[in-house]
Amino acid sequence: MTKFPKNFLWGGATAANQLEGGYAEDGKGLSIADALPGGPERFEIVNQPDFDWTIDEQKYRYPNHEGIDHYHRYKEDIKLFAEMGFKCYRFSIAWSRVFPNGDEEQPNEAGLVFYDHLIDECLKYGIQPVLTISHYEMPLNLVKEYGGWKNRKLIAFYEKYASVVLNRYAKKVKYWMTFNEINSALHFPVMGQGLVKSNGADKMQNIYQAWHNQFVAGAKAVKIAHQVRPDIMIGCMLLYATTYAYDSNPVNQLAALKENQAFNQFCGDVQVRGTYPAYTESVMNRYGFSFKDLDVTDADLQVLKENPVDYIGFSYYMSTAINITDKKLETANGNLVGGVKNPFLKASDWGWQIDPTGLRIALNELYNRYQKPVFVVENGLGAVDKPDENNFVQDDYRIDYLRKHIDAISGAIDDGVQVMGYTPWGCIDLVSASTGQMSKRYGFIYVDLDDEGNGTLNRYKKASFDWYKEVIASNGEQL
Ligand code: BG6
Repeated sequence: MTKFPKNFLWGGATAANQLEGGYAEDGKGLSIADALPGGPERFEIVNQPDFDWTIDEQKYRYPNHEGIDHYHRYKEDIKLFAEMGFKCYRFSIAWSRVFPNGDEEQPNEAGLVFYDHLIDECLKYGIQPVLTISHYEMPLNLVKEYGGWKNRKLIAFYEKYASVVLNRYAKKVKYWMTFNEINSALHFPVMGQGLVKSNGADKMQNIYQAWHNQFVAGAKAVKIAHQVRPDIMIGCMLLYATTYAYDSNPVNQLAALKENQAFNQFCGDVQVRGTYPAYTESVMNRYGFSFKDLDVTDADLQVLKENPVDYIGFSYYMSTAINITDKKLETANGNLVGGVKNPFLKASDWGWQIDPTGLRIALNELYNRYQKPVFVVENGLGAVDKPDENNFVQDDYRIDYLRKHIDAISGAIDDGVQVMGYTPWGCIDLVSASTGQMSKRYGFIYVDLDDEGNGTLNRYKKASFDWYKEVIASNGEQL
């Protein structure tokens, strides 16, 4: 097995809305995540034609309001991460803590102070923060008043927000990402773009317009970042689902290639290369519109060209398979993507198809396409954990999943890929993004909280805690 580089960034990843709680404290405004009901049907609810983002606590539970109370317990949590030996910790800034409505002139100082403390707490243990500027938690007001990212005005709001946080924290924080899983909007535009059926998600042109606005906003953030700190590393963040043709039928091979372009490659191509790819018009035509129909200025294209990202951050949980010739095949569930069931793979309790080799392929595909460093900023197994009477979880299934994926990264390093680091998702149990469940757990640390909001919120180390500690201590040699 290959050796991981000496400075490899081992750590873990979270997002503000899924763990902080304190949803209305210290001047924080509401984010879209605060208006998402808990439970596996959360996306069905928000896509009802009359959904208007009203929070109705009589009817639904809103698990993101309390999260796992990290807002008040972050010191305890960071201490546990330090005990595992984290070199870095990826978390996001809640935009609505800094600009409660997204369109204010001045930021909310109390929100900024929280992240001063969180960053300092990490640095105290030598943990490098890796910050996501926007992770599925835009201010709700930007959706209600402006219609989400399809509105060009959001570019300036995001630019101001990015400028505030970059100017405030970049001296202490070297690693950044502009938008979490920007490409997930192809299938689920609610979280990344604030688009649901009632405000335009059913029209693909809106999703592409929203992307364009995000690309420009992200490029402006990259520009500010480089001005603020020349050695900064600011990346994009993609949801990568390695996509296979189901069989060697050339028709399925072509369909897989097209799916790869539309889902895995389009957003990365624009953000890494700074220009729209050759297949842009063909993808848009498939959805019944043309690039000419989008509101794109020459100045926009110039900003994109001048400010490509420095690295490619991506999440990887599963792969998918494409078959358009056999309509009878069973479809697969997945991390916001579809496809058919792959007979060679087993799936998680939530139907996500487990495929460590797919990660090695993803790393090769991304690095060889862009030749910029790649960073696995999310990976992990969502599973039901059953604690014993001492609240101990023997999560061998999670260890097995992570071990095989780390081994796949090591294989990719052997293949010549420059991998910056590995931050498994939900290093401490948190609220699931797609289902709002607590019972879908990823962590090395068990949090005593159930789907109904009952529990002490106490933290307990799982078996994977000591295992991962050993992995980090041995720089990946002890798997
Ligand atoms: C990614 C997101 O899609 O996967 C995270 O960036 C999310 O926010 C993670 O939590 C796992 O998905 P889920 O739906 O199991 O929470």
